[in-house]
Parts: sequence; structure tokens; C-alpha cells
Amino acid sequence: MTLSFDVQLSENGRTPAEREQVLSDPGFGKTFTDHMVTIDWTEERGWHDARLTPYAPLSLDPATSVFHYAQELFEGLKAYRQTGESIVTFRPYSNAARFNASARRMAMPELPEQVFVEALELLVQTDRDWVPTTEGHSLYLRPFMIATQVGLGVNHPSNAYRFVVIASPAASYFAGGVKPVSVWLSQDFTRAAVGGTGAAKCGGNYAAAFLAQRQAVEKGCDQVVWLDAVEHRWVEEMGGMNLFFVFRDRLFTPALTGTLLPGITRASLLTLAADLGIPAEEGRINIDEWRDGCASGEITEVFACGTAAVITPVGTVSGQDGSWTVGDGTPGPMTMRLRDELMGIQFGSRVDSHDWIHKIC
Ligand code: PLP
Ligand code: COI
Repeated sequence: MTLSFDVQLSENGRTPAEREQVLSDPGFGKTFTDHMVTIDWTEERGWHDARLTPYAPLSLDPATSVFHYAQELFEGLKAYRQTGESIVTFRPYSNAARFNASARRMAMPELPEQVFVEALELLVQTDRDWVPTTEGHSLYLRPFMIATQVGLGVNHPSNAYRFVVIASPAASYFAGGVKPVSVWLSQDFTRAAVGGTGAAKCGGNYAAAFLAQRQAVEKGCDQVVWLDAVEHRWVEEMGGMNLFFVFRDRLFTPALTGTLLPGITRASLLTLAADLGIPAEEGRINIDEWRDGCASGEITEVFACGTAAVITPVGTVSGQDGSWTVGDGTPGPMTMRLRDELMGIQFGSRVDSHDWIHKIC
């Protein structure tokens, strides 16, 4: 399927000085570039009306389906300015494939992968001056889809949808750079159960997580660790990141049971581990094994990984039965090695032997 994009450039975008002001301290997800991409879908016409327009509010009827029944999904990936000035993204077709897997679970229409990637390319090419030059910074891309049928019936999914891509310059997700985070083991709440939407990147998963995240902060921690829905002991993932454990010189990550998000960073690290000759395994680990492994010294490092957070060490763990420290609480050598490898590929200082880098301009 081919769609041609109608292009309407902004006449009152930010001045170069205003843009530089934003880029000097972008934070995460606070400021957006001058344009956005939109594509509509209806039962009669399929995907149509693809356009790049100035960034602007969406105007929607209060009875629009997404406001009531949360039929929504999103993706997250980044554009990087590499050495030599080219601008690239990382594995965008993997995000396109996951977007469509989420769409199937949410009874929403799939978008051809090529169109998904073209939409990203058009936005990044147009707003290329917004891709940061500061080391480690990037342009975060947020494609999403909402149900736009007007009406309150719930007997069938919406008959109309809108796909949108917006972009936001990004520094570190966690203020403070590679500082280890503290985590709270959530035993009061559940993120996802078998047969639910845990493996889909839908907004409802995040809405249901805010209360647990607030509890984590009340307990003095930065982030929630989600456990399985049945026994509340098996480690799944974090609010916006997958988890890896380092057993001395071996990597371990919770298996994709259908209740956690299949992270693209997670998959990339498993491949990089194989490249580097680091044994890596997927399986089950419970919170007693985590605590005991840290106490015996068998677990030497734990880190979280995701597009926004890249790789972030976990320093301390707290739960209903007390707290413990991972290793000596500082970023470990395996964590930092994998972080350097991954960011090296993304920013162009290391060879991309898996064709993960997709050049945009
Ligand atoms: N788990 C959750 C719940 C997430 O929101 C994310 C972020 O997208 C991840 C894991 C990591 O996924 P990825 O590496 O594809 O960014
Ligand atoms: C991402 O890493 O892209 C995420 O979606 C995490 C979070 C900002 C929701």
C-alpha cells in the first residue's frame, strides 16, 4: 500500500534561538517539535488522508470513543544524530511490527510497516534541526493510534481511528544520568494477567500503573517492579522497562510470558550478549531468589532497559519484607559494557553488524 503525504509546513514554528533554548535542557517528553503526522482510517476507506501539519491540538467530540473506552496504543523510539551528522533511527520496523501486534490485541486496524516508517521519516526530516547534538541526547518519537468513532456503544470496536506521530527532544529519562534507581516490588497491585493486554503497548496498561508508581514513590523508591498476577512473586518488568539480572558473568531476563512487553532493547541486548560471548538465558526468577542471590553474591548486577531509559542500573530493592542492595549499589561492569555497546551502535561509534540502524537523512 502506498499513501502520499500532504505537507503543510508551519509558518510560526519556534525561532532557532527558542529551539536552542529547549535543546539546552530538553528533559523528557516536555516539549514537542514544530510538526506532526496524522493518518486517518475508516471502515469504508481504510487508511487515508495522510498529512504532515504544524503541531497543534486535536479537536475531538467529547463522545469520541477513546475518551471512554481507552482504545489506544502507542510506540516509542528515538532518532539519533550520529557522528558525521547523519540522522538515524534504531530498528523502526521492529516498532512497526509491535505496533501492529498491539493493534491486533486491541481490535484496531494494522498500519502497513512501510507507512509507519515513512511517517517517522517525514517528521524527522522536516524537524531535523530538533535532533539534539548533545552527546547522549536524542529525538524521542511517539507514534500512537486512537479510536475516533463518536458514540458510547460498546458492542463493537470503533469504526474510525487516527494515527499520529509527534516528536520530542530528550535527555536522560531519569534525571541524574546513569545513577542507579531504587525499585519497589508491587505486591498490592497487578499490571497484567494471562490473557490480558500486558504484551500490548496500550495506554490502559500505563493508566492502571500510576497508583502503584505513586506507592513506590511514597515508599521512597523511584520505580515499580511488577510481579506476576497469581502469586505476586515472579518478576516481570518495570513501568516502562524490561529487567536483566547478572549472575556473575551470565545474563538472565524474565521470559516473555504474554504478560510483559516484548522490549526491543531487551531483544537487542540478548543478541549483543551472544555477539560478545556472554551466556544469556530467559526464564523465571522470583523475589526470594533475587534477595538471596544478592545476599550470596551470586547476583552481582541488575539493570532496567528500554528506549527511553536505555540501560539503567538498579541499586536497591524494597518490598513488604524489607530492602536489599544489588552488588555494592553502584553501576556494575556488565551494565556499563552493554550500555556502551548499545549506545555506540545507536550513536554511530560502533559497527552495526545487524542492520539495526535505519538512516533517515
Ligand atoms: N516494558 C514497558 C512496560 C515499556 O513501556 C517499555 C518501553 O517501551 C519497555 C518495557 C521497553 O521496551 P523497548 O525496549 O522496546 O523500549
Ligand atoms: C519507551 O521507552 O519508549 C516508553 O514507552 C517508556 C515510557 C516513556 C512509557
